[in-house]
Amino acid sequence: MTLLAKRVNKKGRYAAPMSRTTKPLVADDVEIVRRVLAHVDGGTTDEGTPWREPVENYLNPHRFTQEWNLLRAMPSAFVPSAAIPNKGDHVERVTFGVPLFAVRGHDQRARVFRNACRHRGFALVEDAGCSHALVCRYHGWTYRLDGSLAHVPHAHGFPDLDMSARGLIEVPSYEADGLIVIGAIDSDGARSSNADADEAMAWLTDGTTWRDKLLPIDRVVSVESFRLAINWKVLIEQFLEGYHIRWTHKETLPNLYDNLTVVETFGPNSRVTFPYDAIERLRDRPESTWVGRPPLTFVYHLFPNVIIGAFPQLVQVVVIDPIDVADSEVVYYTMTRADVGPGMELDGEEPLDPAELLPYIFRVVAEDNEVSAGVQRGFRAGANKFVEFGRHESAIGHFHASLGDRLAQFAATQAHAPL
Ligand code: FES
Ligand SMILES: [Fe+2]
Repeated sequence: MTLLAKRVNKKGRYAAPMSRTTKPLVADDVEIVRRVLAHVDGGTTDEGTPWREPVENYLNPHRFTQEWNLLRAMPSAFVPSAAIPNKGDHVERVTFGVPLFAVRGHDQRARVFRNACRHRGFALVEDAGCSHALVCRYHGWTYRLDGSLAHVPHAHGFPDLDMSARGLIEVPSYEADGLIVIGAIDSDGARSSNADADEAMAWLTDGTTWRDKLLPIDRVVSVESFRLAINWKVLIEQFLEGYHIRWTHKETLPNLYDNLTVVETFGPNSRVTFPYDAIERLRDRPESTWVGRPPLTFVYHLFPNVIIGAFPQLVQVVVIDPIDVADSEVVYYTMTRADVGPGMELDGEEPLDPAELLPYIFRVVAEDNEVSAGVQRGFRAGANKFVEFGRHESAIGHFHASLGDRLAQFAATQAHAPL
């Protein structure tokens, strides 16, 4: 396996990772196709450990507070790099309750800042855009793309202002393999700069498993966000099993196999691969032709709250932001490559235009969110003490096990932290 060692330096930036590689974290495409065809022949699917998650863990505000504190103290993927490809591009996001934004500097480096002007705190970035400088629209304080304060109108009115000390407040960040990842955003950075956070950062910045899917991306097709009355963990779960395909997506995904997935885990993360029935055409072709764009969708869960859906035609990065115990904000970044478009031939698939695919994709998204809302309502029925996940839903059990482990580690850290 590859594990990266990384430390936050004095300026709050993550030092370049050192990697030590032994074996790949996930199977290559040829091996995945082999495993899928064996499952097709056997009428089987990957199976792991079943899991029972207490319903209380989705409803209890105290439990939510524990999760919230953990999420704010740990690294997480912030936005895909493709959201800010050019100098001056910026995008904002409220992350675990904290308004932040990312901007690409003149030096091409992506930086993440707390989204508050240093005058009276107005949100500096209100929408995605591109500019040479960041100008607060309240009174005109102006910041360079590296966050330093460049101009204050009528500056003589602030006799004690040291402009060199009033730049924007940066959040530690690291860009690798198509993602911008942030460190802890709680106000007590010292507590979260521990070995656990370093290891968590390593699992988010070692993109060996998704690099080939995300790095070629150079075009954002759409950014959509929804506020949903659904606990954040239910929204994660909906991506991580193929057991619901035949029932929930009967009309929209008829070409996906019913309950046939390949499940792999790496650190707290997982990858679930969903095959299309066109994969059977590969049987008659040499294995050397199985690479490229086989008819598979790879769904990565990057712990804690980001999903990468790599479809043959496009890639979707989905960020699930908890708001409170029963509400979440979900942002879908749908992206593709410049060479994917009308007339493009896919292995075993019809040529498709990513733009034409969007309404269809969001029909599938709506189906998933509708059943997740139903799960959320069902919690209140008082019927179940726990939610049951089968052997074929093992990536979900892995998520809950990882979360449970980290909550326990975090509680232990807090118990020993100096007051
Ligand atoms: S709050 Fe930004 S310039 Fe006043
Ligand atoms: Fe689904």
